Amino acid sequence: MTVILGLESSCDETAAALVTHDRRILAHKLAGQEAHHAPYGGVVPEIAARAHVEMLAPLVEATLDEAHMTLAQVDAIAATAGPGLIGGVMVGLVTGKALALASGKPLIAVNHLEGHALSPRLADPELRFPYLLLLVSGGHCQLLLVKGAGRYRRLATTIDDAAGEAFDKTAKLLDLGFPGGPAVERTAAKGDADAVPLPRPLVGSREPHFSFAGLKSAVLRARDAGKYRPEDIAASFQQAVVDCLIDRTTRALDRVDGVTALVVAGGVAANGAVRGALQQLAGAHGLPFIAPPQWLCTDNAAMIAWAGVERHAAGLTDPLDTPARARWPL
Ligand code: KG4
Ligand code: ZN
Repeated sequence: MTVILGLESSCDETAAALVTHDRRILAHKLAGQEAHHAPYGGVVPEIAARAHVEMLAPLVEATLDEAHMTLAQVDAIAATAGPGLIGGVMVGLVTGKALALASGKPLIAVNHLEGHALSPRLADPELRFPYLLLLVSGGHCQLLLVKGAGRYRRLATTIDDAAGEAFDKTAKLLDLGFPGGPAVERTAAKGDADAVPLPRPLVGSREPHFSFAGLKSAVLRARDAGKYRPEDIAASFQQAVVDCLIDRTTRALDRVDGVTALVVAGGVAANGAVRGALQQLAGAHGLPFIAPPQWLCTDNAAMIAWAGVERHAAGLTDPLDTPARARWPL
């Protein structure tokens, strides 16, 4: 049996998890920082880094305790090494290095995006490479052809905001609270998606990419027009995002051969409207649709541990001088 300890601290969740090669999550712990950041309406990097410092070591201990394990029984330590808020990334990576050094176990420096990209395989043993992945989170909006651990082809990315960022900014504009995505989804459920005319940036375009900045500006104008209910703006916004995601994903599906499934991951994959529309699209293309359970879509350490499992199996470990990176494309 192989057991990997995973650490995550790249944004505003501090997390640790123990995952086996045969997909058993022996323990996983997560400490959110919502209360720390809510007064500011967004994640404050310095506050996040300090909270990671306070929380990570106790979480690692609690995770090992829950699994009745010691560090000596772990095969490797996988820590997020980027991309993300650099202070937080450094806390997790340095902790991972210290644990690796103290235990004599190898370090696996995981790209946070790879954690999201491989997480569907933790949830679904049937999912085979290659698959088309829509990765939609607070910091990223990409279409990736996932060919194996460490083997990705990026087919599209956002030219401005990420999809989750658009949700968060819309929540802020409509004063719906933080974190924004779930708040917009709850508010949208009470609104009419046809009530507010909003643009669908790049829909129908020959280029592959995403764009959401224009949508955010349109939400601001709709709000300031003073004639729409926030519920209707939220519902119309969510529908516009769904339309953009579906159009761009359709374009990618038409251009790749031999994919085994359409897969979604990242925080925005927790959104019911996004999941529903992608499910339909996959069906229309005769493909299975795979979405990890909601808790595995938002940031967590089980996905980092699982990326560690896949990299460990491929013989990929990293030296202790591996740098933390704020930017790190897959
Ligand atoms: O993957 P994630 O937890 O962190 C990043 O790596 O960015 O994604 C967080 C993003 C946030 O922008 C959040 O608003 C969005 O995912 N999100 C949602 C929902 N839940 C989280 N967006 C739309 N609907 C949701 N239910
Ligand atoms: Zn993430």
